[in-house]
Amino acid sequence: MLHKKEEASSVNVALCKGLACCLRGGDQLSKAVQNWMGIEPGEMTVDRYFYLKESACLFRCAEAPALKINDDVFGEVLPSKGVYFLQKVSDKKISDKSTQTFNGKNPYQVELDKND
Ligand code: FES
Repeated sequence: MLHKKEEASSVNVALCKGLACCLRGGDQLSKAVQNWMGIEPGEMTVDRYFYLKESACLFRCAEAPALKINDDVFGEVLPSKGVYFLQKVSDKKISDKSTQTFNGKNPYQVELDKND
């Protein structure tokens, strides 16, 4: 069963908090993803595009750490690779905002900065 925020967002991202992933760099991946998105697990980006959650196990333990983006589960995801995947997912959305200048910053952080 999906959480209401999962249903409301376009892209659901799940961080694995299982033992294998924790032992093989899952915490570093989690920090990188959270930093890039500017949110914590259980939260949605201000534009409601991404929803981030934690999962007990994504069943790719042999390829830990794992990251799930919508229905796709990726294994051996280094922090930089996880951020790269998310950047690729957001590229289409960003291209829709081509008139905006992000000055190399994460567009979601830019939107958060505007609200300060
Ligand atoms: S512990 Fe992460 S995929 Fe199983």
